[in-house]
Formats: sequence, C-alpha cells, structure tokens
Amino acid sequence: MGLNRFSSLAGTLMIYAMVLSESWWSCHGCLDEERSALLRIQSSFNYPIFLQSWGEVADCCSWEGVGCNFTTGRVVYLDLSGIREEGLGDLYLNVSLFRPFQELQSLHLSGNFIVGCVENEGFERLSGLDSLVELYLDENKFDNNILSSLGGLSSLISLSLSGNQLKGAISVDGN
Ligand SMILES: *[C@@H]1O[C@H](CO)[C@@H](O)[C@H](O)[C@H]1NC(C)=O
Ligand SMILES: *[C@@H]1O[C@H](CO)[C@@H](O)[C@H](O)[C@H]1NC(C)=O
Repeated sequence: MGLNRFSSLAGTLMIYAMVLSESWWSCHGCLDEERSALLRIQSSFNYPIFLQSWGEVADCCSWEGVGCNFTTGRVVYLDLSGIREEGLGDLYLNVSLFRPFQELQSLHLSGNFIVGCVENEGFERLSGLDSLVELYLDENKFDNNILSSLGGLSSLISLSLSGNQLKGAISVDGN
C-alpha cells in the first residue's frame, strides 16, 4: 500500500518533469520558424556535405555554423562560409530566406560560388534586420549590381566583399 502510493507519486512527478522539460525545450531550444528557415536555406544551397548534420536534432541552436542568443533562443550568428563545392555550379541567392532571423547579427556567406541574387530577392530584403552588424560575402562572384541593394542595411558595421567581380570606383551610400 505504502509502496504503491510511493510509486504512483513518483510516476506523477516523472510525468510532471517531462512536461516541464518539454516546454523548457521549446522555449529555449530553437524557434520552429527559424528551424524551418534553416532547412529551406539548406535545400537552396543544394545540400552541401557540410550541412548534412542539420536536422538530426531538433534544437537548431546546436547545428553546425549556427549560434543563438540563449536568453531569447533566437539565431544571432550564421556561418555558411565555404559550404558549396564548385561542382554544384553557380548560385543565385534568395536573400528573403534570411528574413526570419530577426535578431541576426553576423552572416557569413563567403566562398559559395554565389553569382548574384534572385530577382527582387536581394539584400534590400534584410533592411528590417536591425541587429545585423556583420556581412561577409568574400570570394563569390558578385558584380557591381549588388551595391545598390546594400544601402538599406543601416545597422551594418562590417561589410566584406573582397575577391568578387566588382569593377571601377565604388561608393556605397547609406540612404
Ligand atoms: C540576448 O538577448 C537579450 C534579450 O534581448 C539581451 O539582453 C542580451 O544582451 C543578448 N545577449 C547577447 C550575448 O547578445
Ligand atoms: C525566396 O524566399 C522566400 C522566403 O522563403 C519565398 O517566399 C520566395 O518565394 C522565394 N523566391 C523565389 C523566387 O524563389
């Protein structure tokens, strides 16, 4: 009798603990919206080998190249440098894929054979990301057309475009 009561209490406590940890997980793990955005980016990059581990665990904050703010559980850092091989061919980037990351501070897209952006889906699409301070686009194949789309990124402090196909005198206006 005493033992029964004890084991049913233990059972209740265990279920309670599971419910608690489940809700803790969804608050602090990784936002569903950001997880699915990462998976859309993965498929748009033609499933590079590097990203094969993405999706194996639910918490996208622990995925390779992804960094989160652990207070908000939101993605703040995304390093996708050098993840595409040349054999995959040129990539037209759809920058809207990065819009769900409202707290993103640092985005690394260097060395991915990116030739430009999908029409109307350029970097102007990130103008609502007020925390974005670093953008690394080195060693791709961007030409001067990229410049006009960068002017609206008002929070940007560091922009890197070396090793692309920009020509002539370059000025980027912040207006
Ligand atoms: C994480 O987010 C909280 C709430 O917005 C903020 O106060 C804190 O500074 C952030 N931490 C980092 C390391 O950015
Ligand atoms: C670009 O990505 C956005 C967000 O996922 C999507 O809604 C849109 O259809 C995409 N555009 C193209 C041309 O694929």
